[in-house]
Amino acid sequence: MKAIPPSPGHLPATPGLSRASAASRLLQLRGISKRFEQPLDISGRLANLLGAGNRASVVHALDGVDLDVTAGEVIGVVGESGCGKSTLGRIVAGISPPSAGELHYEGRPVAGMSGAERRAYELGVQMIFQNPMASLNPRMRVLDIIGEAPVVHGLVPAAGKADYVAGLMQQVGLDPDYGRRYPHQFSGGQRQRIGIARALALKPRLIVCDEAVAALDVSIQAQVLNLFAELRRAHGLTYLFISHNLGVVGHLSDRVVIMYLGRVVESAPVDVVFSRPNHPYTQALLAELPTLDAERRDYRPIQGELPSPLSPPPGCSFHPRCPHAMPRCAQEIPMLALLAPGHASACHLNDAPTHRSPAGCAGADRTAANESTDPHRIHPPK
Ligand SMILES: Nc1ncnc2c1ncn2[C@@H]1O[C@H](COP(=O)(O)OP(=O)(O)OP(=O)(O)O)[C@@H](O)[C@H]1O
Ligand code: SF4
Ligand SMILES: [Mg+2]
Repeated sequence: MKAIPPSPGHLPATPGLSRASAASRLLQLRGISKRFEQPLDISGRLANLLGAGNRASVVHALDGVDLDVTAGEVIGVVGESGCGKSTLGRIVAGISPPSAGELHYEGRPVAGMSGAERRAYELGVQMIFQNPMASLNPRMRVLDIIGEAPVVHGLVPAAGKADYVAGLMQQVGLDPDYGRRYPHQFSGGQRQRIGIARALALKPRLIVCDEAVAALDVSIQAQVLNLFAELRRAHGLTYLFISHNLGVVGHLSDRVVIMYLGRVVESAPVDVVFSRPNHPYTQALLAELPTLDAERRDYRPIQGELPSPLSPPPGCSFHPRCPHAMPRCAQEIPMLALLAPGHASACHLNDAPTHRSPAGCAGADRTAANESTDPHRIHPPK
């Protein structure tokens, strides 16, 4: 079988997860793209009868995404609404096929899997959704919501289901005596714990958490994030943690992948993203975060609207909003390039040697993006 080369965006994310763990790459994505065709509405079809020549529009939800996931790491996936985070999560979890590109699980191409191998992938990657109420069958008791799939897949005998579910409920902080209740009899945070127990029941290696705490109150969010961290330690889990909130992702992740309009624009260890973000979009996301810094309490939204994925801008898709944009940016798509071990960014500014720091990684302070007067300059850290 053809070996898949490392992605430029890959890094040994956790200090200590180094070259030795390259062998434990759990998941690899190469050139993953997803297009959604939006059929013509009735007026478009009627106009076509008169010879208008309207065509179905195509949403470019993902465009050439490369990503390596090492066993045991937590990768945060961040970006504004509509940038393709959920589409990426669904492709990783096997819920939706890519339009192009390759997905490898435990070194094997998912597209060619069948039989036991396919089953191992389907059980090994589970997904937790934003809205626990919508993702739990309201007519099923919690005992069955959590326990049905592991029995069907032969992970536990039917006779052992109740004990198995009770153990899982305890692990996620639910009273096992509530197993005969229905989802509507639980609070939002408890329902998300049921969703987590349901995913854990299949003994996954990787869990895709899609905005898994976004629908919860802030205090409950912290409890559920702590639960994710505990379960990671207890089971050696790997997470793809999707969120539009860089702050939430920062609490849990080893590595953060920043997406913009279907592409990965920066990938770096979490501390690097917060202290030395390279890409102007990452800098702008950080500038948006609320801060306790006495010198800066103002809120700095990213300039301009997110362009439509129906017709992404040419060149760097961030160029209409980028305070550093130069003529080249409107013509040429910047490729993801390694700036330092584990730190990749896709920005033409990195090609200009005079603007690089000695480490080869252009640093920037978190407020620089909206303050620059020199369009070719990324500010060094203060
Ligand atoms: N089934 C679909 N049919 C058509 N377009 C779709 C479909 N699913 C997603 N899209 C489009 O693909 C793009 C990416 O959507 P996606 O849901 O992955 O974004 P997201 O980053 O998860 O956004 P959010 O933060 O709002 O959840 C969006 O423009 C969306 O409208
Ligand atoms: S400087 Fe150019 S390439 Fe870099 S983010 Fe801005 S527009 Fe994109
Ligand atoms: Mg989403």
